[in-house]
Amino acid sequence: MSFENIQISVDQGVGVITLHRPKAMNALCSPLMDELTQVLDDWEHNSDVRAVVVTGNEKVFAAGADIKEMQSKTFVDVHTENFITAGWERITTFRKPVIAAVAGYALGGGCELAMMCDFIIAADNAQFGQPEIKLGIIPGAGGTQRLTRAIGKAKAMDLCLTGRNMAVEEAERAGLVARVVPVDDLMDEALKAARSIASYSMPSVMLAKDSINSALNTSLSEGMMIERRMFHSLFATDDQKEGMQAFVDKRKPAFKDK
Ligand code: CAA
Repeated sequence: MSFENIQISVDQGVGVITLHRPKAMNALCSPLMDELTQVLDDWEHNSDVRAVVVTGNEKVFAAGADIKEMQSKTFVDVHTENFITAGWERITTFRKPVIAAVAGYALGGGCELAMMCDFIIAADNAQFGQPEIKLGIIPGAGGTQRLTRAIGKAKAMDLCLTGRNMAVEEAERAGLVARVVPVDDLMDEALKAARSIASYSMPSVMLAKDSINSALNTSLSEGMMIERRMFHSLFATDDQKEGMQAFVDKRKPAFKDK
């Protein structure tokens, strides 16, 4: 597969999607989001892909939805085409782990796309923000919802209402970012994390992801029940026997995803 707005590769169990519209600060136009959806649809069923990294370039992850594409749209246009809902959210239903490796600007839809991933590894030059208010709109891909759940009401209000950028130190303190690494090490660190995830038993990796995501939508007691039953179910796998036997034997486990 070859694409106009993204570049892709698969190596050592990890699929990498690089957003690639350098002249437009990787603005997320509809063709780019369609290409992203197409790749994820394909990789969902590709057993060579066990984890995914989504990244941009050293200066920008993505500067948001494409303002020039949106500029002339009317309410009826965006409502009828179901803008955002149709085509933007495939990453949130992708069942394998997705890491956002963010350097430079992650603004508007760029910040929202990073938040759709399972966690963010950020470079020390990363900046996050929801500047939509400056355009006469509000975030439409999770900037008032996922951001509020990630960093709380006070900071989400501050960012969405002032439109200011948040530097990476603040983003890490606030809990938006899992780790901060030097910009030159970003891809190495993201790939190292993704390869380590890819080396584990996929049923346990995928259930861990499901279980954590359920924490955002359930009461604690419901969430604990989900976790407990998923934990129990993994004792039905050969990989649980192998993982524990390997520990006892002091060797590396050979997981078979069974
Ligand atoms: N859409 C379309 N084009 C964009 C863009 C965007 N979101 N962001 C940047 N570009 C384009 C610029 O128009 C410019 O194109 P030209 O060379 O043809 O003029 C090119 O990318 C380079 O941009 P700048 O000259 O502005 O670069 P800079 O280094 O001076 O500034 C920036 C970088 C701070 C990211 C600045 O480009 C910027 O503020 N971009 C817009 C950020 C924004 O408002 N994002 C929210 C979009 S709305 C949204 O995302 C809605 C949603 O919730 C889904």
